[in-house]
Amino acid sequence: MPSLCWAAGSECRRFDTTPTPRYTSTRVGKRPEKGFLAALIFACTAPHEPSQITGEATEMPKIITELPGPRSQEIIETARTYEPRSMGDQMPVVWDHAEGCVVWDVDGNEFLDWSSGVLVTNVGHCHPYYVRQVKDQCEKLFNCYDFVTEPRAELAKRLVEITPEYIDKAFLVTTGSDATEAAIRMARRVSDGYEIIGFDGAFHGRTYGAASAGGMMGTKNNYGPMTPGFLHAPFPYMYRAPICQGKSEEEAAQACLEYLDWLVDRQSSNALCGVITEPYQGGAGGIIPPKSWIEGLDRWCKDRGLIFILDEVQSSFGRTGKMFCMEHWDIKPDLITLGKGLGSGIPCSAVVGTSEIMDALPEGSMGSTNGGNPISSAAALAAIDIIEEEHLVENAAKMGKLFEKRFVKMQESFPQLGDIRVLGLMGGLEFVKDPESREPAPELTRQIVWECFQRGLICIAPIGLYSNVIRVAPPLVITEEQANESLDIFEEAMHAALNEVGA
Ligand SMILES: Cc1ncc(COP(=O)(O)O)c(C=O)c1O
Repeated sequence: MPSLCWAAGSECRRFDTTPTPRYTSTRVGKRPEKGFLAALIFACTAPHEPSQITGEATEMPKIITELPGPRSQEIIETARTYEPRSMGDQMPVVWDHAEGCVVWDVDGNEFLDWSSGVLVTNVGHCHPYYVRQVKDQCEKLFNCYDFVTEPRAELAKRLVEITPEYIDKAFLVTTGSDATEAAIRMARRVSDGYEIIGFDGAFHGRTYGAASAGGMMGTKNNYGPMTPGFLHAPFPYMYRAPICQGKSEEEAAQACLEYLDWLVDRQSSNALCGVITEPYQGGAGGIIPPKSWIEGLDRWCKDRGLIFILDEVQSSFGRTGKMFCMEHWDIKPDLITLGKGLGSGIPCSAVVGTSEIMDALPEGSMGSTNGGNPISSAAALAAIDIIEEEHLVENAAKMGKLFEKRFVKMQESFPQLGDIRVLGLMGGLEFVKDPESREPAPELTRQIVWECFQRGLICIAPIGLYSNVIRVAPPLVITEEQANESLDIFEEAMHAALNEVGA
């Protein structure tokens, strides 16, 4: 067994074909000895042969061509020719391979990653234990529809074990949108009513039901009628929502909760069934609600016998410094949707909840072609192992504090950084032309992303209702050194962007 550790970087480049045991339960008392699993994770080799163009891994950015590089340009040209325009929003870089928090493009440039794909690769890119578990499963079985497999059964069990005590069922699907749709179907099937309250700015996916539940107009405008049965209420976006202005967090939370009764009185056809919200709004710009709002919402649902659906597709599996974002608060959602970090690279999503709701659907009524397939189940099991064994929840919490501290410091000399919202390794940085007027600064924001890219830091294209928010979401394996290096780059990029385009 090779003794070199992946985390050490460049030297870990040998294949080890020793098969690894599969599906290990990590429920306390049932899990394998810590040393055993830790050895599987750490005493491992690189996930793939080193690329010809890579050179030595430094785990720090290294830009060796003009950006975009020549090979990137060629491939992007092909993509632009054969793909629809709707795919073309990100920085012009063609990813070749990645390890941990480092990405190499096809020209051999090395970047630090603040994207995790799109908050997906929580365990780091191509973690060798993860790769090994997936490879082992690939040699056995890819798909068998809804026939039970050991990995699927084991993953359902594991999800029930790591979620709060009252959760006792897990249903596996493939994408976050699938999970949203499934949760809506379950809630409606078990209730007398069908109306669901969603929130301004929410994003639950692009399928029609999910888009209808959401409150982002980009997924709705000019796409024809949305599906009926959804009402929308304001989300406590302290920095911008008119209902929050001039109020403390407590007052704003109260006003938003009171609005719910107003909405129901005026718009509901007496057919209310549930409420759906993200714990923080991701696509709208990483908007974290006041504690009293989300706890009040949970109570509001319980008082009325409504089903509370919490969309943790983006916010779970350690992202916010807790395994599930809901652990920051005292809430008990009935259905929780999971995705992204669950598969940590291979598509996998789930709805977890109570058997009271989930078993209300008859046998055979909710299958899926790819949901819970053995490959994604093996991947998710490996991801959970890694998150637990490498203490990634704790690392996200610790690194999140470091990030926040640096952003607050940066704001002193950069007032255009209007609002800083950080929870673990989920950050939303909102840029404005002027901190008084809070007029959004989308041009400056895009230029900052460009300047980061030029210096070896990959960020996702700006998000938010005004495209003026930069997302900070590195893989949870980011080291302190990488965090500081990426923050130095970001600070320099902000000032360069301001010089280039003004506020
Ligand atoms: C909170 C939330 N819910 C649902 C989705 C939809 O997930 P998918 O793109 O996998 O369908 C997303 C995707 O960004 C999300 O952030």
